[in-house]
Amino acid sequence: MKKIKVLISEEKINNRLDELANQIMDEYKGKDIVFLCILKGSIFFTVELAKRIKNNIQFEFVEVSSYENNESTGKVNLNKDITQSIEGKEVIIIEDIVDTGRTLAFLKELLLEKKPASLKICSLLDKPSRRIANVKADYVGFAIEDKFVVGYGLDDEQNLRNLNYIGYIEE
Ligand code: IMP
Ligand code: MG
Repeated sequence: MKKIKVLISEEKINNRLDELANQIMDEYKGKDIVFLCILKGSIFFTVELAKRIKNNIQFEFVEVSSYENNESTGKVNLNKDITQSIEGKEVIIIEDIVDTGRTLAFLKELLLEKKPASLKICSLLDKPSRRIANVKADYVGFAIEDKFVVGYGLDDEQNLRNLNYIGYIEE
């Protein structure tokens, strides 16, 4: 059995989500927002953040893949596209983690073609030391060191997403 250590506790995540929600409400006063959730890793973050925001939020989902056997392949595939137009809408991409940045660079380009009024990125985690593509999240929950993390949506080959904290696997 793999042993998992706590990196960020549920309590710390909850406190940070309150702060992020307040920041977003401040910056989007009175506006409707589209939360564009990147499946599957961002589902927990999307839901928990949205519940703290009073603005009207619509939800769209995309699914992308770039990982094989826990390694970034460098090639991003769009497995599932959005189903409603985002033209003229205030869109926030909700991501679990920005690692190399390739996923978000690819998605940003794709979504900008759909002409949203604005497009921002909100990521629960950021691993700045791993960046390859030139992309920066507008809202970041926690910057972390280069560790492979699991839980709160993040998986180890599709497992461990439902941990209520962010952990790492002890070698
Ligand atoms: P990027 O395109 O390299 O930025 O990769 C982004 C995607 O890789 C994220 O949305 C995650 O799904 C996955 N990923 C990157 N780092 C980790 C990690 O430490 N644990 C689990 N998934 C990760
Ligand atoms: Mg992801």
